Amino acid sequence: MQPSNRGTFKSRFGFYMAAIGSAFGLGNLWRFSYVTGINGGGAFVLLYIFFVGAIGLPVLISELMLGKITRRNIIGAFKWKPWGQNPKSRWRWLGVLALLASFVVLGYYTVVSGWVIHFIVQAVMGQFTNPDAMPEYIIDRLMSRGYLQILLAGVHIIFTASIVSRGIQEGIERFSRVFMPLFMLIVVGLVVHSLFLPGASEALRFLFYPDFSKLSASAAIEALGHALFTLSLGFGAMVAYGSYLKPEVHIPSEAVLVAGLDTILSLCAGVLIFPIVFTMHADSGSGPALLFKSMPVLFRHLPLGYWVGVAFFVCLYFAALSASIALFEGLVTYFIDEQKMKRTAATLTVSTITCILAAGSALSGSLFKNIRLGERGILEIMDQVIINWTLPVVTVGLVLFVSRMREKDKEDQFVDQKSLVSVRMFSTWKTTIKYLVPSIIILVFIFQLIVNIFRS
Ligand code: PHE
Repeated sequence: MQPSNRGTFKSRFGFYMAAIGSAFGLGNLWRFSYVTGINGGGAFVLLYIFFVGAIGLPVLISELMLGKITRRNIIGAFKWKPWGQNPKSRWRWLGVLALLASFVVLGYYTVVSGWVIHFIVQAVMGQFTNPDAMPEYIIDRLMSRGYLQILLAGVHIIFTASIVSRGIQEGIERFSRVFMPLFMLIVVGLVVHSLFLPGASEALRFLFYPDFSKLSASAAIEALGHALFTLSLGFGAMVAYGSYLKPEVHIPSEAVLVAGLDTILSLCAGVLIFPIVFTMHADSGSGPALLFKSMPVLFRHLPLGYWVGVAFFVCLYFAALSASIALFEGLVTYFIDEQKMKRTAATLTVSTITCILAAGSALSGSLFKNIRLGERGILEIMDQVIINWTLPVVTVGLVLFVSRMREKDKEDQFVDQKSLVSVRMFSTWKTTIKYLVPSIIILVFIFQLIVNIFRS
């Protein structure tokens, strides 16, 4: 095989920050709180943690490894053979599915990132701290203004594209290094504040007391989907990151760190947001607007609320931006490697397609208001269908593909010669991805189908 000529991450810290930047995004704050809200809290959170450990971690190792061994994008990786390429490989369809999922997710992710830009502007204009303003309604007004959302999403796409077009090293690494640690600091600070709110004890019970009777029928598949989404799995994004890793990087320890930190950050986001929701007596199951309804209210009563509000949304924006960069990068590497495009042309192609998709979901609260599936508008349909159904399918295929790769290649990546533990862990990981991951996912799927049939 001819490994493609790629850049690598300069430093280990740079990789962490970029991989965590990819994993840590709107999924942890915006999506985690809204799906936990609609799925009834504690029991859902427990399911989510279980799926992160049983599925997310082994799959994250598999994705990074697939990228690192093949040094290709997800479609190229599925054509890989130790002795060359197999362009007719049937596995490549999984790659196509992953890329479609990336496009759809990017389509609405850019819209929600645009919402964050709007909230930065509102924060700067003092709307959160103005006693006459009602910050909890800013999001409702925004959601009904489709063209403003398209404009904001467009601005976000331009930011993302300009970073991606400059290439991996200067673009992603430099930028993740600065903002991720800062954001973590702010989130932790606000969590401490939230714990002293009057609604805190109710919120903690809601989040951590597993009441299985409150689980919604689709909770299992949603928890699985969210565990994959939040770790950026099933899109090929981590395959692309893996392909940029230096040879000496030990994948399992990096993966444990990324998955662990991402989960802690999600839980922090829950502990940050739900006390506000319960203190306001708001509806915890109110859907995608939850974060945007609750957070601004916090800043009104906070000392230095104006500045904390601005800093929070600026950092949230950087989290959204770094995750968008990862999604973009996965798609751009595909156009560069497989379609032989230049980086600039590839970035332009991805931007154009994303703009069109973003317009669809931006208009879901106005022009396309009547396109609904039950309670859900276009944005939610794009969000839930892709995440709950496509990601698990790609994941099963991916682990089966990695299971069939040459033993020696995997062992080289996994086993750290200095430690005996990793020899044992290697065989546990192999069994997990070959049997456990596919069987759990298939069981969840069957369960979900049965539930759907009985419900209709
Ligand atoms: N994991 C990111 C989040 O939680 C979303 C994402 C998915 C980013 C896929 C990159 C690739 O927000």
